[in-house]
Amino acid sequence: MKILGIETSCDDTSVAIIDPLDKSLSHRIRANITQSQIFVHKKYGGVVPEYAARNHMSSLEDCVIEALEQAGVGLDEIGVIAVTAGPGLVGGLLVGTVFAKTLAMALNKPFMAINHLEGHMLTVRLCYDVPFPFLLCLASGGHFIFAEIVEVGKYRILGETLDDAAGECLDKVAKLLGLEYPGGPNIEKLAQHGNPQRFKFPAPMLKHNGCNVSFSGLKTAARNLIQTNNYVDKSDIAASFQMSVMSFIVRQARKAIDMCNLDISSIVLAGGVAANKLLRSMFEGLASNKGLRFYAPPLNLCSDNAAMIAWAAFERINAGYPYSPITASTNPRWALA
Ligand code: KG4
Ligand code: ZN
Repeated sequence: MKILGIETSCDDTSVAIIDPLDKSLSHRIRANITQSQIFVHKKYGGVVPEYAARNHMSSLEDCVIEALEQAGVGLDEIGVIAVTAGPGLVGGLLVGTVFAKTLAMALNKPFMAINHLEGHMLTVRLCYDVPFPFLLCLASGGHFIFAEIVEVGKYRILGETLDDAAGECLDKVAKLLGLEYPGGPNIEKLAQHGNPQRFKFPAPMLKHNGCNVSFSGLKTAARNLIQTNNYVDKSDIAASFQMSVMSFIVRQARKAIDMCNLDISSIVLAGGVAANKLLRSMFEGLASNKGLRFYAPPLNLCSDNAAMIAWAAFERINAGYPYSPITASTNPRWALA
């Protein structure tokens, strides 16, 4: 059974074809074509929803054709059409879901409406044999969640952000540093040559129980520092800020582990910020300290992509969930639990 996945919830137009039952993990993804819109949005310092939707509309058909060519399959060999139906930017979601539904109806194939966050959450199992239950830290541009992943469709949220998502905070501080969007990878690059100990940022949420996060204090401290230290080497600010953000996430992850009800054996990092090498190495340290295994998707599957949507559809089908009705609506605020 081959699954065609479509992802258009933000600024990446992505189409994938996966063969989920292929025993070889490396062969499961037959194609994962992503057309980034960074060149459109970077001059505005962030994603402009209307431009994103228009670009999805003009790119989607080409991406489907390219994915079919790369996978070497015809549309008749596709068993299921899966699409991100939320959460995300409403214009892009509508473009993707209308396209997917039309394809499913024309081909008379089943259709699956997938939650974008569930896609990020389960991606790691597309690449590695990670057993349930596990602790997940999802850190992307729009979301931050600690969750105990019990099984497919059963997610216990342990903590979330009270304000910005981690990626959003990195993007905003990057902009203040004069770096281009998306800021996370650019801060990481600049930080390579900086001193992470040079500046101390206030440690957030010290007096709070639980594992919620808040990045607004760190962001304000960074803004004040940047505005009052024009002459300072920006790489030191980037390195110190990156160190503070990632150390804070790991401090809360330690608490999240203790909040799990079940006997977890692994911790998993997902979402765009999971591509950050410092965060990955800190999580690796935390996991070994707690006697757990650490997993994160390969870098190209951390940020938004359609293979994760196709894989989440497979996991749901495999777990006995029904296909979605063709009338399933998009939901820009689709919460997981
Ligand atoms: O998951 P994603 O591609 O899109 C959303 O669903 O939001 O995440 C994008 C976010 C952006 O904020 C970007 O700056 C951040 O992930 N990001 C990174 C890195 N690569 C992407 N943050 C830190 N280090 C990176 N290497
Ligand atoms: Zn995402």
